Amino acid sequence: LNVVHVASEMAPIAKVGGLADVVASLAKAHQASGLLTEVILPKYDCIQYGEVHELRHMCEVEVPWGPDANRTVRTVVWSGCVDGLPVYFIEPHCNEKYFWRGKFYGESDDAARFSFFSRAALEFLARRQHEAPDLLHIHDWQAAAVGPLLKETYKASGLSRTRLVLTIHNMAFQGHISGAFLQHMGLAGRASQVAEVMLHESQHHHHNQASVTINPNGMGNNFSNATLNLLKGAISYADRITTVSPTYAREVLGPQLGMGLQAVLQRHQGKLAGVLNGLDYETWNPNTDPCLPAHYTAEERSGKRACKAALCRELGLPFDGVLQTAADANGNGNGNGAPVEGSPWGPNGRPLIAIVSRLTEQKGLHLMISGLRAAVAAGAQVVVLGSAPDPKVQREWEGLARELGSGGDARIVLRHDEALSHRIFAASDMLLVPSMFEPCGLTQLIALRYGTVPIVRETGGLADTVRDVAHSPAPEHERNGFTFAGTDEPAAQKALQRAIDAYRNGRDWWESELVPRIMRQDWSWTQSAQKYQEIYTSATRL
Ligand code: ADP
Ligand code: GLC
Repeated sequence: LNVVHVASEMAPIAKVGGLADVVASLAKAHQASGLLTEVILPKYDCIQYGEVHELRHMCEVEVPWGPDANRTVRTVVWSGCVDGLPVYFIEPHCNEKYFWRGKFYGESDDAARFSFFSRAALEFLARRQHEAPDLLHIHDWQAAAVGPLLKETYKASGLSRTRLVLTIHNMAFQGHISGAFLQHMGLAGRASQVAEVMLHESQHHHHNQASVTINPNGMGNNFSNATLNLLKGAISYADRITTVSPTYAREVLGPQLGMGLQAVLQRHQGKLAGVLNGLDYETWNPNTDPCLPAHYTAEERSGKRACKAALCRELGLPFDGVLQTAADANGNGNGNGAPVEGSPWGPNGRPLIAIVSRLTEQKGLHLMISGLRAAVAAGAQVVVLGSAPDPKVQREWEGLARELGSGGDARIVLRHDEALSHRIFAASDMLLVPSMFEPCGLTQLIALRYGTVPIVRETGGLADTVRDVAHSPAPEHERNGFTFAGTDEPAAQKALQRAIDAYRNGRDWWESELVPRIMRQDWSWTQSAQKYQEIYTSATRL
């Protein structure tokens, strides 16, 4: 099989969130099992070019694009190699600076930028000398325009046998264009049919069906002002659809998390499957991770304590645990390293509670504010690494940082910092993921791998991966964290309090049973990459 991923992110060179990790690690897992796997990305200016090897100008493609049918935009396609994976970068020429914005998303013309990217990716694939790919695997709304374009505009091209798999990483982002924009993208010939498929659901509710049903002899003007939904188009045109956990695959069929597309997904339910994300076990390995000051395994865990001492020192937090070996103490402690006499936490010190997250409503962090205040008041330590695309959320967290930080036991770092995130996952005792919804979530999986106990809300992929140590029906050896269901602060606080109590009162159990148990669980790609292969195979048989 020959698969091309079309995506807007890929770790480590272009990462905003988990989408980047998944595109890179799924592609690598497939490459390792013998699939010919390639990735197409926009050529953003903010790519980490240091990690792109053999970057070279590969070809130029005239991409049909613009208000009339004859217009094209000259595009340079670059090729390169990232972690051994072949990657192509789409760069619109000169005046169309779609990807030179100093950031990945958040521009007023995002829908146009990524529709152009989708069109250019197809034009490149249709023209290149290789055999056509068996499959295009598109990710989220940013690559969604590939759906209608492949199945309408390119259906008689060399890509006529290429099948389409869509993975939805987050229903909250769907991408909208106006009906008139179809012409610009090159869908004018089939505009009426395409518009009908992509019509934003709320407009279905507001118009009666007849008013938007399309004149088969041309686009009329009925919907050139209508809002069309890119993700809906991809859902409708894809041969197979996945989302990133089994629970989320069920949740999106309902009104609460379907985000307006539940009816469309129900109509296409036969194509839909939930496949749990895996982790790249090479990148996320506490025994080899180059970002860590000390290494450890499930069997030999003293390095985790050394990571904690080092992080405390790095962030200026007091470290009052005991360093267990001379090697740990070597330059890593804060010079203190002595047990606090009579501390209620015992000789091993107090818990370090972490959050590593985009600071958006989705992540439910507001549920944790009173819990964190109480935890710090009781002597726990807190570290938050938050990327904040939203200035309002950023201000709130800066306020909290000042408040909690005053006691010296909390640090809130507001930026995206990959290396620091690794050090926090390794150093912490607990990770909070109280998401309101979570298609899969990777941070709880990273935490498990690093022996850091996750405390999560029971939703989406969090519900599929974290099993409460006390009340889960799962067998003992599968229980790996603390969970709660409510959407109120007391529910979240109670789960955190249970974890803190377990840490304080059952320290032997925590250190010598729970931590090694969660580190030994398998969240690698092994099973899920295989499931994707089965989905690919079934799509190619259509
Ligand atoms: P989402 O994709 O919704 O943000 P995931 O849990 O799937 O959530 O993936 C988040 C990814 O981004 C993880 O790899 C996590 O470590 C990383 N991440 C989140 N916030 C930051 C940050 N401030 N700095 C560095 N990495 C971050
Ligand atoms: C999205 C989701 C997250 C998921 C990630 C990768 O960003 O919010 O839950 O883990 O995509 O699939």
